[in-house]
Parts: sequence; C-alpha cells; structure tokens
Amino acid sequence: MTERPTATTTTISAVKNFEGKLVRIRGWLYNKRSSGKILFLIVRDGTGIIQCVASKGDVGEEMFKNLDGLTQESSLIVEGTVHKDNRAPGGYELQVTSCEIVSQAWPDYPIALKEHGPEFLLDHRHLWIRTPKQRAILTVRAEVMRSAREFLDSEGFVEVSAPVLTPSACEGTSTLFATEYFGEMAYLSQSGQLYNEATIMALGKVYCFGPTFRAEKSKTRRHLTEFWMLEPEAAFMTFEELLDLEERMVSFIVHRVLDRCSKELADVGRNPKDLEDIAPPFPRMTYDDAVKLLHENGFEFEWGDDFGAPHETFLASQHHRPLFVTHYPTKAKAFYMEPHPERPEVVLAADLLAPEGYGEIIGGSQRIHDYDLLLQRIREHNLPMEAYDWYLDLRKFGTVPHSGFGLGIERFVAWICHLDHLREASPFPRMINRIRP
Ligand code: 4AD
Ligand code: MG
Repeated sequence: MTERPTATTTTISAVKNFEGKLVRIRGWLYNKRSSGKILFLIVRDGTGIIQCVASKGDVGEEMFKNLDGLTQESSLIVEGTVHKDNRAPGGYELQVTSCEIVSQAWPDYPIALKEHGPEFLLDHRHLWIRTPKQRAILTVRAEVMRSAREFLDSEGFVEVSAPVLTPSACEGTSTLFATEYFGEMAYLSQSGQLYNEATIMALGKVYCFGPTFRAEKSKTRRHLTEFWMLEPEAAFMTFEELLDLEERMVSFIVHRVLDRCSKELADVGRNPKDLEDIAPPFPRMTYDDAVKLLHENGFEFEWGDDFGAPHETFLASQHHRPLFVTHYPTKAKAFYMEPHPERPEVVLAADLLAPEGYGEIIGGSQRIHDYDLLLQRIREHNLPMEAYDWYLDLRKFGTVPHSGFGLGIERFVAWICHLDHLREASPFPRMINRIRP
C-alpha cells in the first residue's frame, strides 16, 4: 500500500526549494479568478504571493464550491504540489490538493482591489498594510533598522536606550508634547541625545534607537509627530570623524537593502540602479556656499535662516549622492552645538540631505564640551536651568570633545522606497490631524 505523502509547512518565499513536492501554505486570499472548472486563488502569507490552482477533479465537488465562494482576505491553509511556471508572479504555482478554510472573511472588505484616496487608506491603515506595496515598505524599514544596528554593533557601539518620558527639551521648546507626571510636567522625548552624552562617558561609543516625538504644527509630506530616530554618539569623536561615520553608515544600509530587498524594491517601484552609486565620499558644501548657490539661482534667502524644503530640494538635486551641508549659523541651530574655533557665528554641524527632494535625513554635530559656554547657551536659549543640571554635570566630571547624529528612519525609508509622503514609511503614522488607528 502506498502512503499519501505528507505536506511540509513552508512559506511562499521558500516554495522554490520544494519543486515537485507537497507543501502547506498558510495565508490569506488576496484575489481570485475562475475559468469554470479551474479556480486561481492568489494567496499571500506575508513573505510573498503565489497562485494556487484548484480543479474540481483534485479537490472534490464540495471543496471546489467552498473555494469558489471565498471572499477577499479569507484565511486559509492550502496544500498542494509546487510547479515551476515562469509566467506565474513568483515563478512558481501550487496545484492544490486540499484546502482548509480557517475563516471566511466578511464580504465587505474595505480595501477592494482598486484605487482609493489617501485619507480612506489612512483610516484603514490596519488593513492597508496587507497590500503588496505596504508590505514591501515595512520589510525595507525592518532591513534598514536591522542593518543600521549591524553596522554600529560591528563598529563597537553599544545600544543604550534613552527614556521617552523626560523633564526637558533637546530640540527646542516649541515642539514638545507635554503630559502630567504625578504633579510635575513631563515631555515626550524629541531626541535621546542628551542621555547619549551621559552614556558615552560610561561606554565610549553608544547609540539609542526608539520613537521620538515632535508636536510639529506643519502639515508637510516630510513631518510626522512620532518617528523613529537612530542616534549614535561617541566620546572623542571629531566633526570630521562624524561625517565619515555618517557616510559609511548610510552607504552600508543602502547596500544591505539592495542585497536583501530586491523584490521589495521592485514592489515599491524603485529602480535599484538609482541607489547603486551611493558610496563614500559624499559631496560636502558649507552653508555659506549653499546660500551663494541659492542666490545665484534666484532664491530669496537671508544668511542666518534655516533652509526650507524648496532650498534643501534644490541643493540636493545637484547631486546623485546625499549632500552634506556644514557649518550652519549658530543662531539657527540647537543650543548644544560646538562653535567653529575661528568663526563662532557658525557651528560644527552638518545636515545630510538625501537626493531627489527627500530633504534632511540626518542632523548631527560636535557638542559643546566646555562648562561655561554650555551654561551661557542654556541661559541664552531661556531653558529652565533645573532641568539641565544633570547635563551640566557631564561637563564638570571628565568632559571630552564628542559628537553624534540622529537619522530619521521614516525619512530614510521614504527616500529608499521613493515614497511621496513619509506617512507610508511608518506602520501607523501619527500626524497633526491623525492619531487613529
Ligand atoms: O535634526 P534633528 O532635529 O536632530 C536631533 O534631534 C538631534 N538631537 C539628533 C542627534 O544629534 N542625536 O532630527 C534628526 C533627524 C532629522 O534629520 C530627520 O531625519 C528626522 O530626525 N526628523 C523627523 N522625521 C520625521 N518627522 C519629523 N517631524 C522629524 N524631525 C526630525
Ligand atoms: Mg535637523
């Protein structure tokens, strides 16, 4: 007596290893076509999409009827034999031998397979993320996060988490989210930097990685109110070494994504050729030269102001690699930045501007390590002294020159995936007019 072969449970991305074999796929019905006696079930499982071909003869009359009545997003477990088929979306298809319907979805799935407006999609973000492009973006995002950690770990940085509830501002008081904290005021963190500056004195090279918050009143395609920031910081790191670290890290991440997410880049419509040249050194330009270039090209811009989106877009569009703009006016930047030794009206700071109009993906600087100057800056910026006494301690006990930067994950992913708006780079974006779902 011949035994029926047992099916191996696997994923759609791995069926290529099972040609001619019986496998079991667990997923959701994405789409369905029928040609009378044959049903084409397009099934997705998070790793990919596969066409499953069911015939009445193979699955029996009753199962065939049940499959024919399946609604979009019904969950199911399909068993079938793997066949290579170059015409099929992933290169393989399943000849269905049996199927278990785990749950028949309600018939009114909101994200029907047609065009929807952005507000409708955002209202249904919990379902929208199931579509191939959104799945691909979230996968690239995970690879960006994983490879950033891999790079920093390999360079000897130690990940140290910074608190989310804080008593003070890092990036200015105008974009703080406040909350009541047992009779005191507390704020959602804008950046873990100030804490990094403490932990480097314990560990040398550190990074924190987590959600950060800005009560941004502006409705732009580049601003979220909650976003993830990766923030490395190192004791004794000079401004030059900082830029070197940034360009090596950005290039490393880009090439990891090219190596590991080629399918996802195709799903989001990004041509990998656009990214292949991303390698050190990145072009550099001082703020002064940037202002000159803007003037030469008809922009009205006053020395001392911070760049807006049109300025950043113009400057970065001159290059195919990200552009460093360095030495910003002291008065346009944060209180903690180290002044240029010969020109105190500018700081040792650099923004890294992504090509193609994606704007600033990294902000970084050398930090003030002198106690008296830092105290003066805290006063000039009208910051509440009692919230910064611990931060000043760091300049009393073994202060050293140090530098660090913050990379905004959603800005980075939006650039890599060529997205129109940052909101698609976040699983559940938070914006001025949106906190749901
Ligand atoms: O330039 P920012 O404000 O720098 C800091 O917060 C520093 N304390 C970081 C540090 O040196 N450790 O922000 C850093 C990056 C920006 O370059 C941008 O990529 C991103 O964070 N970012 C935002 N992303 C999405 N929405 C917003 N509202 C953002 N604001 C900043
Ligand atoms: Mg900035």
